[in-house]
Amino acid sequence: MKVLVVGSGGREHTICAAIAASPLCEKLYCAPGNAGIAEVAECLPIAVDKIADLVTAAKTHAIDFVVIGPEISLALGLADALRAVNIPCFGPSQAAAELESSKGFMKDLCARAGVPTARYQRFTDVEAARAYVRAEGAPIVVKADGLAAGKGVTVARSIEEAINAIDDAMINNAFGASGAEVVIEECMEGEEVSFFALSDGQTSTFFATAQDHKAVFDGDKGPNTGGMGAYSPAPIITDALRDQIIRDIIDPTVAEMKKKGCPFSGVLFAGLMMTKTGPRLIEFNARFGDPETEVIIPRLKSDLLAVLYACGTGKLDSVNLEWHDYAALTVVMAANGYPGTYEKGSVIRGIALADALPNTTVFHAGTLRNASGDITANGGRVLCVTATAATIKEAQTRTYQAIDQIDWPQGFCRRDIGWRAVK
Ligand code: AMP
Ligand code: GLY
Repeated sequence: MKVLVVGSGGREHTICAAIAASPLCEKLYCAPGNAGIAEVAECLPIAVDKIADLVTAAKTHAIDFVVIGPEISLALGLADALRAVNIPCFGPSQAAAELESSKGFMKDLCARAGVPTARYQRFTDVEAARAYVRAEGAPIVVKADGLAAGKGVTVARSIEEAINAIDDAMINNAFGASGAEVVIEECMEGEEVSFFALSDGQTSTFFATAQDHKAVFDGDKGPNTGGMGAYSPAPIITDALRDQIIRDIIDPTVAEMKKKGCPFSGVLFAGLMMTKTGPRLIEFNARFGDPETEVIIPRLKSDLLAVLYACGTGKLDSVNLEWHDYAALTVVMAANGYPGTYEKGSVIRGIALADALPNTTVFHAGTLRNASGDITANGGRVLCVTATAATIKEAQTRTYQAIDQIDWPQGFCRRDIGWRAVK
C-alpha cells in the first residue's frame, strides 16, 4: 500500500514510524511532516488545512490509504473529500467530526444518548449567558463552542472569572467564530483519563487508555498546554471500568451518531472525569491524542496500518488487537515560553544519543532541519521522549535518562510526568 499521513506533530511521527515498519507499507508520505518524520517518510510541503491540495497530492502519488492526524483537517472535510474520489482513509467525516468541533453538538448528542456528562446549556446571547452564571454560581465551566486549539475552556473559580470568559469569547472574539456560541457547564471533580476506542461507524472496540498532564509546570501548576507528557495504560482504569465506559459512553454515542445519519468512523477519544459517581464525559475528540499517541502506539503489538485500514474501510470486526504487556511514558520538551510566545530556530543536540538508549524513542513534534543539517526547534512542543518498561516508574526513569542526553538550552520539560501513577 502507498500511504499518506496528514500532520506534523509527535502524534504523526509516532504513527509514521509504526506504519513505515509495517510489511503492508510499500511507500509512505507525510504532509507536511517534520525533521523526524522525514527519516521514515517522504514529506510533502502541504499544510493540514489545504484540503484540495491534499486530495490532489493523494491522487498524484496514487495513494491507497490516508491517515488523518489533526482535528482541523477533519473539521474541514478532508475525509469526505478523499472518500468522494474513492481514496479510503482513517478519520471521520466532517459531520461526524462535529463531536469534537462543536461542543454544543456533542452535548446535545450525549443528552439524547443518555451519556453521563456535565449538566450544561448553550448560549448565543451574552446577557443570557451572564445571567445563567450568576444563577448557577461558581465553580463553573465556560467553553467556546468551536475549535480553539485547546484554549477555549475556562474552569472558573468565581462568577467574575466566568463572566470574563464569556466576554472574551462572545464580545472580544478571542476565539473568532469558534466563540460566537458558548457552552456553560457544571464543574466536575476527579482524576482525568484519556480513553480511546475505534469505530467503523457500525461497531466499536476498545483501543487504549492514557493519562496526560496538561499544565505547563511541575505539580500540575501554570497555564494549560496541549499536553506536557503522558503515560499508558492509565492505572485507574480496571477491566470493569473499561467495560462500563464502553457500555455507558462509547457504544451509546456510536449508536446515536449512526441514528443521526453521520456514523462515526475513526478513533473516538473520550476525555473522562473519574468522579465519585463514576466515569463522566468531559469531551470527545475525533482523532488520536497528542501526546497520548506517543505512549499508546509503542505498546501496540498488532500492525497499526492493518488496524487503521480495517477501521477506515468498515471491517473493524476483522481486527484482533494485541498489546505488549509493558507500560510507556513520554515527556514533552517544549521551547522556553510555551504555551505563550517562544522562539523558533534554536539548535537541538543529542537526539541521537537519547534515541540510542534501550527501549527509548525520540518523537519529533515540531522540528526542522536547517541548511547545515542541524535539527532546530520549529514549534512550541518540539520533542516527545518516550520509553517503555515493565512499570510506569521504570519507564519514567528511562525517559528522564534519555532527556538528560539532550542538549537544548532554549527548551524545557516537566520533571514529574507520571507522578500520580508512580506514587
Ligand atoms: P476540554 O478542552 O473540553 O478537554 O477541556 C480542557 C480541560 O478543562 C479538561 O481537560 C478539564 O481539565 C477541564 N474541564 C473541561 N470541562 C470540565 C468540567 N465540566 N468540569 C471540570 N473540568 C473541566
Ligand atoms: N492531549 C490531549 C489532546 O490531544 O487533546
